[in-house]
Amino acid sequence: MFRLDGKVAIINGGAGGLGEACAVAFAAQGAKVVIADVNLEGSKKVAEKIGAGAMGLAVNVASEESVAELAKAVVEKYGTIDILVNAHGINIKMPAVDINIDNWDKMFQVNVRGVMIPCKVIGKIMIEKKKGKIINFSSVRGIRGTDGGNMPYGATKGAVDMITRMLAAEWAPYGINVNAVGPSVVMTENFRKAVAPERLEILKSKTLFKKFLDPEDIAAACVYLASKEADNITGLIHYVDGGLTAVG
Ligand SMILES: NC(=O)c1ccc[n+]([C@@H]2O[C@H](COP(=O)([O-])OP(=O)(O)OC[C@H]3O[C@@H](n4cnc5c(N)ncnc54)[C@H](O)[C@@H]3O)[C@@H](O)[C@H]2O)c1
Repeated sequence: MFRLDGKVAIINGGAGGLGEACAVAFAAQGAKVVIADVNLEGSKKVAEKIGAGAMGLAVNVASEESVAELAKAVVEKYGTIDILVNAHGINIKMPAVDINIDNWDKMFQVNVRGVMIPCKVIGKIMIEKKKGKIINFSSVRGIRGTDGGNMPYGATKGAVDMITRMLAAEWAPYGINVNAVGPSVVMTENFRKAVAPERLEILKSKTLFKKFLDPEDIAAACVYLASKEADNITGLIHYVDGGLTAVG
């Protein structure tokens, strides 16, 4: 179960954090993995770490031209695209009264437009072959509020949830599954740098198991959603959150 042998998977945002963990897990399940990121050096490093068959490319998910180039390069190399993972994302924390509009727009560019465009461009390829799996990265913050200047981030993730559900409905006739994962706090390098230690303790105390998740916990959920075992799952926001959303 949960094998991805021979499947061609694009992991946007795969140069680090949760995307990297997904790329590693997908390759271990037999997928041909394309790591795509604005950080080309990082993409190449992850591809190198994974080894034969993996490819590291540059993409700006917010640019239709860039995503089209990525899709073209992948189809030229592997013949098709079976799985799309949108694992990129940014969070610029801003108290609501001090919202910087440029930063607000930047977050929507990357987190929302940057999910819509890859879905649009690669969804077209999947529609033609009447098969495909798309996994978007949401967050518990798409459904649960919090303080700490996270309103813009939560707004983008709420949008990702509805992109996921709407596309699931629109593309079910084409055999395409569109799901999302909703992590709570995962101790990635960037997260550790971005959050003050005392806030980390508060966040930890809100989980039922009183601990943070590992990137591999999220990667495992993505492997499941990408596998044929999840063929009947679509439009789901799959929370991997240590119980955070169970208790609000
Ligand atoms: N880490 C957590 O605790 C956590 C919790 C909930 C949700 N998430 C979500 O999971 C996803 C991954 O988070 P992470 O912690 O691994 O983040 P990360 O910052 O470690 O990695 C994100 C990657 O996205 C890439 N990226 C940024 N803008 C891009 C663009 N325009 N085009 C292409 N790539 C771009 C970055 O270069 C980076 O490699 C995000 O959507 C995030 O919101 C993370």
